[in-house]
Amino acid sequence: MGVGEVGRARRNMESLRTLHALEDGSRPRTPENLTTVAGWTGWGAVPRFFDDADPRWAAERDELRALVGEDGYRAARRTTINAHYTGPAFVDAMWHTLTDLGLHQGRVLEPGSGSGNFLGVAPHGFQVTGVELDPTTARISRMLYPDAEVRTESFADTRLPRGFFDGVIGNVPFGDITLHDPTFNAGGHSLHDHFILKSLALTRPGGVAVVFSSRYTLDATSPAARREMNALADLLGAVRLPTGAHRRTAGTEVVTDVLVFRRREPGREPVSTAWETVGPHQVGDQTVRRNHYFDLFPEHVLGEEYVGHGMYGENTYGLTATPDAEVADQLRASLAALLELWDGAQRKAWTAAEPPRTARRFTGVPFDSDARQASVDKSRNPPGLSRADS
Ligand SMILES: C[S@@+](CC[C@H](N)C(=O)[O-])C[C@H]1O[C@@H](n2cnc3c(N)ncnc32)[C@H](O)[C@@H]1O
Repeated sequence: MGVGEVGRARRNMESLRTLHALEDGSRPRTPENLTTVAGWTGWGAVPRFFDDADPRWAAERDELRALVGEDGYRAARRTTINAHYTGPAFVDAMWHTLTDLGLHQGRVLEPGSGSGNFLGVAPHGFQVTGVELDPTTARISRMLYPDAEVRTESFADTRLPRGFFDGVIGNVPFGDITLHDPTFNAGGHSLHDHFILKSLALTRPGGVAVVFSSRYTLDATSPAARREMNALADLLGAVRLPTGAHRRTAGTEVVTDVLVFRRREPGREPVSTAWETVGPHQVGDQTVRRNHYFDLFPEHVLGEEYVGHGMYGENTYGLTATPDAEVADQLRASLAALLELWDGAQRKAWTAAEPPRTARRFTGVPFDSDARQASVDKSRNPPGLSRADS
């Protein structure tokens, strides 16, 4: 068991003890106690904590059961597959993108809000609604950010009107599982795609969404989920992060993309269909299937691609970060460049009606980005609690 896991598990337990003490009033709501609660990094990076065969954690497991009850314990164990929280520099870059897109106030949804890393730094003027399945994690976010609304439920069960939100932000849970949600996931898509589709449906036309997802939203061989997304919203762009970009904060090695969408007005045609399809892409002497979007915009792949070998001998695709480059800075620059393509003065966008492997093509498209011209209110809430990020 690595030192990182031990440290995370200890901090999680200390966070929980303090949460309970704050809730029952036996400890005061001081910045120090809140900082301890904010040490919560979830169980995604410490799945072995729940391994009953591992005696090293037996005492803590018993304590966790006592603190959250048998249902809470089972819920905590279930979170290990996708409880990976987003680091503050990425969170900041994404909020900036949302405001740079012209959204300065209104209702914002965060589906799968975890411990509230996005909720805690929402700029002034936004009312953020988080939805979090794990009751303990939801309680932590409510304790840390009492101004945010956090619904403790599965997003599959969330009942809110279509078009209710002005924007969406977050890092959706990834998983090759399908939740029952006949209204918003009739296509039976995997967890991450379901979250994106439902979020887009709950966003008003003209609203925007900036989310991290698994690379499989773009790279899955079947275009079915992407087609449904494209029926609702234009993909303004995507940025692919290096493997391990979330290692420090979330302890995960997955390859993720930031996806930026704009909900389309009824009756308008999609700007592009290029991003619906994947095709063969050469990495060294190996061929992988990758979304055509990145053929058009290779500069939005933040790293050197490689194909390695996984635990079971399978090929694994990854990206080596540029040495010495700050990934969050690169992300911020790429997102800014991506938004430039949508600048109100030029009203240009990429299209895929054309073969994607040639030079990119631009066409004039209707995109109401007047709001982008408006002064961007970048004033932020006071940072409040400074969150530990490792
Ligand atoms: C990748 S984490 C991201 C957390 C947070 N958005 C952040 O970026 O720090 C995904 C979160 O979704 C939650 N989650 C998983 N399945 C869910 C569901 N069906 N409904 C709501 N939340 C869910 C997990 O418990 C986890 O907290």
